[in-house]
Amino acid sequence: MYTKQQIVEVEILDLGDKNQCYGRLDDGISIFVQGPAAVGDVVTAEIFKVKKKYLAANYRGLVKPSPHRIDPICPYFGLCGGCKWQHMDYAEQLRLKRKQVQDALEHIGGFKDVECEPCMPAPELFGYRNKMDFSFTDLRYLTPEEADIPADQLKKPIDFALGFHAPGCYSKSIDIDHCDLSPEEMVMALNTTRAFCLRHKEELPVYSTFSHTGELRNLVVRKGGNTGEFMVNLVTTTHHPKLMQELCDDLKSVLGDRLTTFVNSTTSAKNTVAFGEQEHVLHGDGVITDRLGDYTYRISANSFFQTNTAQAEKLYFQILESARLKPTDIVYDLFCGTGSIALFASGHCQKVLGVEVVESSVRDARENAVRHGVGNCEFIQLDLKDIKQIEQEMRDFGQPDVVITDPPRAGMNPKAVKTLLDIAPATIVYVSCNPASLARDGQMFCEEGKYRLVHCQPVDMFPQTNHVESVARFERVD
Ligand SMILES: C[S@@+](CC[C@H](N)C(=O)[O-])C[C@H]1O[C@@H](n2cnc3c(N)ncnc32)[C@H](O)[C@@H]1O
Repeated sequence: MYTKQQIVEVEILDLGDKNQCYGRLDDGISIFVQGPAAVGDVVTAEIFKVKKKYLAANYRGLVKPSPHRIDPICPYFGLCGGCKWQHMDYAEQLRLKRKQVQDALEHIGGFKDVECEPCMPAPELFGYRNKMDFSFTDLRYLTPEEADIPADQLKKPIDFALGFHAPGCYSKSIDIDHCDLSPEEMVMALNTTRAFCLRHKEELPVYSTFSHTGELRNLVVRKGGNTGEFMVNLVTTTHHPKLMQELCDDLKSVLGDRLTTFVNSTTSAKNTVAFGEQEHVLHGDGVITDRLGDYTYRISANSFFQTNTAQAEKLYFQILESARLKPTDIVYDLFCGTGSIALFASGHCQKVLGVEVVESSVRDARENAVRHGVGNCEFIQLDLKDIKQIEQEMRDFGQPDVVITDPPRAGMNPKAVKTLLDIAPATIVYVSCNPASLARDGQMFCEEGKYRLVHCQPVDMFPQTNHVESVARFERVD
């Protein structure tokens, strides 16, 4: 018999969905351990749930390390939810990412005879992010060491933090002064902004998600991975010209020529999404550019852009390889964002139709095409749930031979899948940041024998994290 709060010792045999570690106790009962364990570790864990067939427990300590275990380099490891896999060597991270995709295809999609390729490694294991979104909160997340110290004796104030939301606790942030996934300029901008905001705490209070008062919301920093251009975007409730000019001067004195543009975005939204309604440009022209392959993209404060430039290039070449385009092909790029996949495909086919719901992204996509003199891409603003409009657009543009679809994490709406099946292109290339969505939608493509999954390539866009991207090729069965 097991009881809550009982401590047990267990060897970790596998890592499952949502980063749960799996083991089996001597009597054969399964145990799911939450915490920073690696496959092959022997750990102690404290049981918090007792069920007939399994136990759930929290990681408490390491008894014997796995051969794949390495020392995490980040002081916030275990607290910050960002890099959950920093304690595993890279070969092990890649093995687990491939396994995640393979397991989802087999267990959720029912694809028993498809072997996915080894996960494509990233060239940079740290410092690879071209965008970071740091949050301000008036509730600092306290570390376990700080929990018992009286508030007035803490080194940092408890009512101010600039960093990342604590996992599972959206109202609090961990105050960070360093992040190994960020290039140096981002860390410099983070610490300069924090120091400035702490000096001006009275005039610039932190926005509260409870009272919906206050000013400081997010600090978004972007660096063109292939151009080095650097943007700082401070998101506030209202614009304070004098204070923003002072912050701009501080940033310029620390970053010098490395600061391409400084924007103060303002929003009245009652949420903490870093999306500005108005932009006040204090330095530069409010945009940076980045390059993928032969194409240079304009990126403004609100634009979507893949967050790992070097690996985005590899992802896009993989998409092209999977699509095997012919010069006569009509291609649809569904969920096209700013049209980056469409531009990549445009030189290899007859024409491309990009479909996207966000108006500003469609505008960026059109501008990007014009700037590169690409004349065979059209972009339309359309919600992919709206079947009637898709059918009309299709009649106008022509039946696609190849559809590339890159939906958000939740995958495609069942109505959109149904429409895709009715359109019946010869090839569907499904790009996914969520193996479960890929497997679920892929099963719908294949369940009536209309399509078969012929190839799946996992790509590591985010080393040190448990996230994995995949490119899967489905072929129509004629
Ligand atoms: C994962 S991003 C893909 C972006 C793009 N393919 C790229 O590589 O940069 C998903 C895109 O789908 C768009 N989107 C989300 N829901 C949509 C819908 N119902 N209809 C059309 N587009 C949608 C989002 O705005 C976002 O740009």
